[in-house]
Amino acid sequence: MAEEFPEGIDPRRVPAHVACVMDGNGRWAARRGLPRTEGHAAGETALWDTVEGALALGIRWLTMFAFSTENWRRPPDEVRYLMHFNEDLLVRRRDELHEKGVRIRFAGRRDWRVPRRVLRRMDESVALTEKNRRMTLTMAFNYGGRAEIVDAVRQLVADGVRPERVDERAIRARLYHPDQPDPDLVIRTSGEYRISNFLLWQLAYSELVFSDVLWPDFRRQHLYQAVAEYQRRERRYGGVRVDRGA
Ligand code: IPE
Ligand code: IPE
Ligand code: MG
Repeated sequence: MAEEFPEGIDPRRVPAHVACVMDGNGRWAARRGLPRTEGHAAGETALWDTVEGALALGIRWLTMFAFSTENWRRPPDEVRYLMHFNEDLLVRRRDELHEKGVRIRFAGRRDWRVPRRVLRRMDESVALTEKNRRMTLTMAFNYGGRAEIVDAVRQLVADGVRPERVDERAIRARLYHPDQPDPDLVIRTSGEYRISNFLLWQLAYSELVFSDVLWPDFRRQHLYQAVAEYQRRERRYGGVRVDRGA
């Protein structure tokens, strides 16, 4: 791939993990007088362009919020559409992702509401790509940050961990993907300034970038802008700046 590295971005300070709340599909459709589901369909182009952009930047971990534990509250038709849309998208794109060296993963609850066939496609995609290491693409699907913490606590109890042994490491080790670094950068589209139950534990020190672009209009250039913004931030983790003197 002889693709050029995007201008204006320092290749030495590319975030290792970028997470993205893909929001605004419904409003994108409404503005065009279309049903909400057309907005979800149009979001596919945005998703793949973002994946390509992340690959061009050399981002190692990309996590995309596709369906939240609260999204079941939507009208049944929309929920049904989203389930099958995600399944369909996987089947159509997994070979291409595999060829590009992308490892596909999922984060979320495998509960009874997720159709079996969808779970099967997810498992197949994970198995197909599990040896790939160029980038890990995690689809947060039926995912909730609180649910993830609840699941970790349940596991702690099931493991019989004594209270004095419960620390951050013990909790982290029981999250859905303990090997995954915390996101350096989180992007939320559509002009909403909230987290909506995404990666609550992992976001403790992430840099947040909010974009007014509705998800279906999002392209790799917007990702590059967000990364450039990230590179202008100063991360302190509660400490003081030591690198440049007083
Ligand atoms: C994001 O777009 C997609 C999902 C949450 C599945 P929305 O469907 O939330 O679009 P808006 O926020 O209503 O515009
Ligand atoms: C967050 O978007 C969930 C996903 C992008 C999958 P929502 O549209 O569900 O969030 P709220 O309701 O605006 O907070
Ligand atoms: Mg929304």
